[in-house]
Amino acid sequence: MTSTPTHERADGDKGAFVREMFARIAPRYDTANRVLTAGLDERWRRRAIALLAPPRDGSLLDLCCGTGDLVFHLLRTDPSLHVTGLDFCAPMLERARVRAGGARGDAAFVEGDAMHLPFEAATFDGATMGFSLRNVVDVDRVLREVLRVLKPGARFVNLDVSKAPNRLWKRIFDLYFYGAVPLIGGLVGGSRAAYTYLPNSLTNHPNAEELRARFELAGYRDAGYLPLMGGAIAIHYGSKP
Ligand SMILES: C[S@@+](CC[C@H](N)C(=O)[O-])C[C@H]1O[C@@H](n2cnc3c(N)ncnc32)[C@H](O)[C@@H]1O
Repeated sequence: MTSTPTHERADGDKGAFVREMFARIAPRYDTANRVLTAGLDERWRRRAIALLAPPRDGSLLDLCCGTGDLVFHLLRTDPSLHVTGLDFCAPMLERARVRAGGARGDAAFVEGDAMHLPFEAATFDGATMGFSLRNVVDVDRVLREVLRVLKPGARFVNLDVSKAPNRLWKRIFDLYFYGAVPLIGGLVGGSRAAYTYLPNSLTNHPNAEELRARFELAGYRDAGYLPLMGGAIAIHYGSKP
């Protein structure tokens, strides 16, 4: 009898759709990212890592690592770290593993679902997630899973697009996000459908304050967030008690 991998069991249609979509855009994902954010995502990633403040020689988990951007940023910040990237999309992980060949530091990549983490409780000294929480089927379940695998006192930092509180700025940003991103993503990333889905995934996602409250509800201590770009980007954080 063959067993079904965890990440193909319980995430239903949205999970399968998201996985296939990322498989399609994997070859040009990095280029599209840089173009769509005008390279600013690199700066936001550095801010997220500064908020994580990982301990030297620590073991970190990057959830939904994709092609490994945050993993390699973490290792460039501190080559003594041991970073595991987890993603459920094999083609994204393939690219991450190729990049790992040319990078310094201890990076490992694991295929798995953020909602069913294949790790023992209290394994990691910190966790990160970049531009992904919007894509998971059950945000609360992921928050609880991350908490489970963190050691007491360790921090989770989540960088993502958010909903700007200022209505005029939100309208301007939405014009770009919902209008230009599908066009540019179609041209550079190779799939207009995928880059139409990605902005739409924000529509039903909690706003920054709601997400902070969800961190708290999941059991994080000192839950908070740092708004960037007038709140169109937010870095949420919280620690395991
Ligand atoms: C927008 S990409 C972000 C990649 C990377 N974190 C970055 O910052 O560039 C979203 C990633 O989340 C992954 N993903 C979405 N839902 C997932 C889940 N439930 N478990 C594991 N990976 C997931 C996708 O396969 C994809 O690689």
